[in-house]
Amino acid sequence: MSSARPQPRPGVLDIDAYVPGKSSAPGAAKVFKLSSNETPLGPSPRAIAAYKAWADHLEDYPDGSASDLREAIGRAFGLDPNRIVAGAGSDDLLHLLAHAYLVDGDEAIHTTHGFLIYPIVTLGAGAKPVVVPEKDYTADVDAILRAVTKKTKLVFLANPNNPTGTCLSFDEIKRLHRGLPANVILVIDAAYADYVRRNDYEAGIKLVATSDNVVMCRTFSKIHGLAALRLGWMFAPAHIVDAINRLRGPFNVSGPAIAAGIAAIEDIAHQERSREHNTRWLDWLTQEIGKLGLKVTPSVANFLLIHFPDTKGRTAKDADAFLTTRGLILRQTTAYKLPNALRMSVGTEEANRLVVAALKDFLGQS
Ligand SMILES: Cc1ncc(COP(=O)(O)O)c(C=O)c1O
Repeated sequence: MSSARPQPRPGVLDIDAYVPGKSSAPGAAKVFKLSSNETPLGPSPRAIAAYKAWADHLEDYPDGSASDLREAIGRAFGLDPNRIVAGAGSDDLLHLLAHAYLVDGDEAIHTTHGFLIYPIVTLGAGAKPVVVPEKDYTADVDAILRAVTKKTKLVFLANPNNPTGTCLSFDEIKRLHRGLPANVILVIDAAYADYVRRNDYEAGIKLVATSDNVVMCRTFSKIHGLAALRLGWMFAPAHIVDAINRLRGPFNVSGPAIAAGIAAIEDIAHQERSREHNTRWLDWLTQEIGKLGLKVTPSVANFLLIHFPDTKGRTAKDADAFLTTRGLILRQTTAYKLPNALRMSVGTEEANRLVVAALKDFLGQS
């Protein structure tokens, strides 16, 4: 009898499960996966070596406090390692924040085209996601502040945002923080911070360092190319670090991930190469795709959002099908409330040139 079956907590069955970027293109001779914002340069060779070295010690539990990794991050960014928590990807940390700070009936704010994990972790904690409209595909500080109620406990903001690639200046972030009640945590998800080349941008470190209710999450999945290992970190006030450390799995990050993460964060030259590659090809793609008459939202990250017309045969869905036949896998963004756009990760030179050539053919401009 169904009523006698175990039931998950309210909210769980309201979750639309996260659908990762496609990874196959049946029939295509060569496949270019540009659907998950992975780096085309791969990880640092030193990170790969550190990972492999762990293969001889797989019987050992990792250091549950990830102290060497936290110290390496602390050195790289000038931070107190005691204010850092490592997670199995930043997803892990976002889940932990929701579980630690939301109770049934609470609200957590995110923006219309915000990262899909935010409603998932909010509903999973039994709370209500409050979705706030954006302006020009960019978070709108005033709209966020207007949405705050007595029930608001968390504000999730990806800066830069995925999938739009837009970001807020540090002044805007500070204005948002100033407007929030002291009991609301501002979660700045800076997964793509390493790619940003705007002078008015700051990932959030300065604000976390000087306030009691701001947290910054970072990931090793993007510029460090370690997505498969699941590694992220959070910089937070001491009282939030304390709460998350009580709740997190005691060995939530693996030994090989810790070792690779340390090597990656210390390989500054590799990060610089990845940034340069990205800057060069992000600009090129934005220009070339723009020349085809498609609107591209200006991006500061390692991906770009391409908008398609409504015309039959020219829609994002049509483009996706066409590109897939050529082995070019982009990300559909319908779940992000952008049904007529595709998100493209910056790829290798070969992949980038192939996408532009394929779009030209798709639009009948060849
Ligand atoms: C905005 C944003 N935050 C967090 C993540 C999750 O990263 P991780 O691989 O560290 O869980 C992603 C990954 O796509 C992202 O786009």
